Amino acid sequence: MNFVPAQHARVLSGMRPTGRLHLGHHHGVLKNWVELQHEYDCYFFVADWHALTTHYEDPSIIPESIWDMVIDWLAAGIDPAKAKIFIQSRIPEHAELHLLLSMITPLGWLERVPSYKDQQEKLKERDLATYGFLGYPLLQAADILIYKAGMVPVGEDQVAHVELTREVARRFNHIYGREADFESMAEAAKKKMGKKAAKLFSQQRKAFQEQGDQAALEAARNLLENQQNLSVDDRERLSGYLEGSGRQILPEPQPLLTRASKMPGLDGQKMSKSYNNTIALRDAPETVEKALRTMPTDTNRVRRTDPGDPARCPVWQFHEVYSTEEVKSWVQEGCRTAGIGCIECKQPVIDAVLEELKPMQERAREFEEQPDLVRSIIDEGCKAAAKQAGETLAEVRQAMSLNYR
Ligand code: TRP
Ligand code: SF4
Repeated sequence: MNFVPAQHARVLSGMRPTGRLHLGHHHGVLKNWVELQHEYDCYFFVADWHALTTHYEDPSIIPESIWDMVIDWLAAGIDPAKAKIFIQSRIPEHAELHLLLSMITPLGWLERVPSYKDQQEKLKERDLATYGFLGYPLLQAADILIYKAGMVPVGEDQVAHVELTREVARRFNHIYGREADFESMAEAAKKKMGKKAAKLFSQQRKAFQEQGDQAALEAARNLLENQQNLSVDDRERLSGYLEGSGRQILPEPQPLLTRASKMPGLDGQKMSKSYNNTIALRDAPETVEKALRTMPTDTNRVRRTDPGDPARCPVWQFHEVYSTEEVKSWVQEGCRTAGIGCIECKQPVIDAVLEELKPMQERAREFEEQPDLVRSIIDEGCKAAAKQAGETLAEVRQAMSLNYR
């Protein structure tokens, strides 16, 4: 892999506390997080304030949901030695940045975010005509920008929020990254890199600005990142000089689109708590086995002797996730010729799901038995996050002339 500058190598993602997680979360999100933590500096947080934007009426269920969710993260293999795990509301810097960004965010940008109208439609029974709900994508922008994250793993529905984050960052840099004598300060900063690096930087900047040469842009970014003797301010001046018109105080993140999970629910729809078709990561093996044994099959197979069609059967979708090619052709053949029964057909799925859950449940049990350990993992994560968030906020205050001390 190519060298990635430190700030771009930071990955951040959050999840609302919805309680115990299920196989849909595992296949759709957590497996991806687990992979990312080996390669990048990862920050994973519990978005408890986000839960309040839609569920402000009964927050009393949030605390338990947080513990359950964090234990499931750990059970799924998020490693606190590799990734920072923390809780949004424990880092009040998110709120201050949200407030400051709200000053420069046009209302129209928020009203146009697709989830604003969609969610209001979907959650009709709730009154979502609130200030908090309108501002929630901006809170998400603050979550991302406070850590200067370069990559944000999200699903399709959240890409628009990362896009908004990019626009807000650009606007912030444009308004507050300007300095009266920006050019000459950038030129002075460039000299500090030494003759050779300064010359290379100038060539790369020219190639990018005049010909849109992306490789030159990458190279110049790497060059900056590797300069030992540049202050933070100078580095930001030079990256702004390279790409735009002012200092780049808040870098623009990229969405890291996670492949849509193919995990079906027990009824063949997408697995989701609201459809009541889930297998939770911590469901007892007997419960899992019973749920799979009683799940619906092709409704045309009334009797054992009736042939069926896997395309009409939710069990087949489980085979698509869990079975080898060999097992899959056994299903296709056996179902269509009534050569196998449905219970028989479900057995390899039952075995595979139980096998997948077993190590997770063992890890979950370890953490359930040591609540103090879980608490200290979160404390550590919060401490590291607060440090990073504090540094960014200090720069933001400085850029906005809010440093009165
Ligand atoms: N809004 C996201 C969701 O509802 C959760 C979230 C909050 C998030 N802040 C974030 C995701 C920052 C990625 C980055 O799923
Ligand atoms: Fe579904 Fe398998 Fe039964 Fe066919 S044999 S209907 S694929 S459970």
